[in-house]
Amino acid sequence: MKISIIGAGNVGATAAEIIVDRALANEVVLLDIVEGIPQGKALDIQQSAAIQYSDTRIIGTNTYDLTSNSDIVVITAGLPRKPGMSREDLISTNAEIVKNATIQSVKFSPNAIIIVVSNPLDIMTYIAFINSHLPRNRVIGMSGVLDTARFKSFLCAELSVSIENINTIVLGGHGDSMVPLVRYTTVAGIPITDLLPKERIDALIERTRKGGAEIVQYLKTGSAYYAPAASVVQMIDAIVNNRHRIMACSVYLQGEFGHNDICLGVPIKLGIRGMEEIVPIKLTEEEKIAFDNSAEEIKSILNNLRNK
Ligand code: NAI
Ligand code: 2OP
Repeated sequence: MKISIIGAGNVGATAAEIIVDRALANEVVLLDIVEGIPQGKALDIQQSAAIQYSDTRIIGTNTYDLTSNSDIVVITAGLPRKPGMSREDLISTNAEIVKNATIQSVKFSPNAIIIVVSNPLDIMTYIAFINSHLPRNRVIGMSGVLDTARFKSFLCAELSVSIENINTIVLGGHGDSMVPLVRYTTVAGIPITDLLPKERIDALIERTRKGGAEIVQYLKTGSAYYAPAASVVQMIDAIVNNRHRIMACSVYLQGEFGHNDICLGVPIKLGIRGMEEIVPIKLTEEEKIAFDNSAEEIKSILNNLRNK
């Protein structure tokens, strides 16, 4: 397994470190536009591997030739959010960066599975998919894994139970209109609605929707990266170990959930070939309206971008 990470910033370098610590690949390549940064971070991570007893090799580079024949490419290149910025504020700059990163990555690794992280996530996944000319099962955006982790983490703290007891899923776009599914939220199999009053559930949903912004407000100079990096690695683990794991990810829709020609967070099964299938789940009228609203937001951003 060879994994390349484009963008050696907070998310990229943290993901690289976890991959090396857990020896999830034989080889990791960290690439960035800034000279010295990927080389320095790779060397540092390589030395931490000596303490973790990991045989994974990691190198840093500024050129794509060293990413050749990667099995997985993670695109984290781009600008992160600053206070007061929405994910959508990043669009035009990140669109160019992600387009170029995709074209270069596919040129050197035509068989790779691409995981997109750069924001705004559903738009960047769409741009990566269109420019990659790869089948849709190999271009997957990281969004719902993080949003689901945030919802789980808030539920876990509220109920003082083990994180292992909580099962839930968050669909839709990676933005304020994301759709945490209360009906599919259980604690040791018990419906969440039996354990918490509606006002508390609504408050935790609202906190989940604003979960990224809450962290940006504290950090001031950037956005979250520990949980985002861990989310990327959970997807990589599902692929590398062919787990057939169901998780919410942003993928190109061709009529599923009533939408076409758009990338959006839906439940997918993830294994060694990338997305194995989009898992069809039934949505209530209310859930469908929330999902459609989220889709409309993404469509209008895509239309604006096309008309620029
Ligand atoms: P960061 O600023 O720490 O790292 C970004 C890196 O990309 C920098 O090292 C920069 O030099 C590099 N870069 C910029 N242009 C490049 C290019 N053309 N080629 C190669 N590298 C280039 O930012 P961070 O925190 O790592 O976030 C990265 C992206 O991921 C941002 O767009 C952020 O909004 C997004 N993000 C998405 C999440 C999600 O849930 N999908 C969660 C967290 C962050
Ligand atoms: C997050 O949700 C900024 O998308 C990033 O933390």
